[in-house]
Amino acid sequence: MNIQIACIPGDGIGPEIVQEAKKVLDRVCEKFGHTIEYTDVLMGGASIDAYGVPLTQETVDICRSRAAVLMGSIGGDAATSPWYKLPPDKRPEAGLLAIRKALGLYANLRPAYLFPELAASCPLAAKEGGRNFDLIIVRELTGGLYFGERWTKDIDGVMTAQDTLRYNENEIRRIIRTAFEIAQKRRKKVTSVDKANVLDTSRLWRKIAAEIAQDFPDVAYENMLVDNCAMQLVRDPEQFDVIVTENMFGDILSDEASMITGSIGMLSSASLNETSFGLYEPSHGSAPDIAGKGIANPIATILSAAMLLRYSFALTAEADAIENAVKKTLADGFRSADLMPKTDDAEGLTKVNCREMGDRICERI
Ligand code: IPM
Ligand code: MN
Repeated sequence: MNIQIACIPGDGIGPEIVQEAKKVLDRVCEKFGHTIEYTDVLMGGASIDAYGVPLTQETVDICRSRAAVLMGSIGGDAATSPWYKLPPDKRPEAGLLAIRKALGLYANLRPAYLFPELAASCPLAAKEGGRNFDLIIVRELTGGLYFGERWTKDIDGVMTAQDTLRYNENEIRRIIRTAFEIAQKRRKKVTSVDKANVLDTSRLWRKIAAEIAQDFPDVAYENMLVDNCAMQLVRDPEQFDVIVTENMFGDILSDEASMITGSIGMLSSASLNETSFGLYEPSHGSAPDIAGKGIANPIATILSAAMLLRYSFALTAEADAIENAVKKTLADGFRSADLMPKTDDAEGLTKVNCREMGDRICERI
């Protein structure tokens, strides 16, 4: 197969981690007899520096003309970067929101599971027998507060701001359906998360979720309030299989879910539209504090590349090969800085930089 993808290295640690993911993709293609072509495009801060805007039509068009997009991360340090002196709709994050909307990427899948090799890094209180969870957050990505009308103005001498949380039944229906379809291929349980004790959007969400659940009698279905879900994720993450929720709740819960795996540097994500087209990126941000030092953990981006092969190209064996190589690399004791234990129980572990982590994973494919 000839695989053609667009790449958005982005800002901060983005270019370093994308380089390692490309290296791993090259290796897996070599091994399985595919060819792969990358077209690099700019977005976020890098696009502001080059063109004055965080997203150009050219970037959207190139991404759309490929089967998938691999992204690093975008954005900088809001306190020091000149990008944050621009109006909000010209900042790096606006480019990310605009490309999600332009490409119709309504379904954001964020798996969170505990690698047995990293169980010691799981910050949750020790449990007899250890922790063992494997869940996926299905986050609605093109609606809700992120895309509702917003303004800030002076009303009778009082500065006032408003954001709008709005969903229609069609937007809810398609994301709930996606969650149930994913659950059918996993452990067959969907937890729909909302704030139906307060919000109208959540009451509509819950009504639609109950309707869709009828079409999936083989999948267990429950509702959970978002504040309770935040608590349950820390108390007992093993109870979850698929969590489906709206954009803002999903943003917050997915950071929480990733951290209980030990490091936010491990978690991949896929943002999909109604076809097999997707944008794949690590769940973490651009980490400007360590950018350019070569010490970032590329694993989340490498696992995102595996998701890209799995979801956009249906290359299951190739995706498995990457995931197994990551597991093997961890089992063999290689750790990026963020994965090194803080205490002195680092016996048998080898600290590696970003490039070495990519090399060690390639060697195991
Ligand atoms: C994410 C990020 C983005 C979001 C930001 C950078 C706009 O936090 O992908 O989770 O809030 O969606
Ligand atoms: Mn986020």
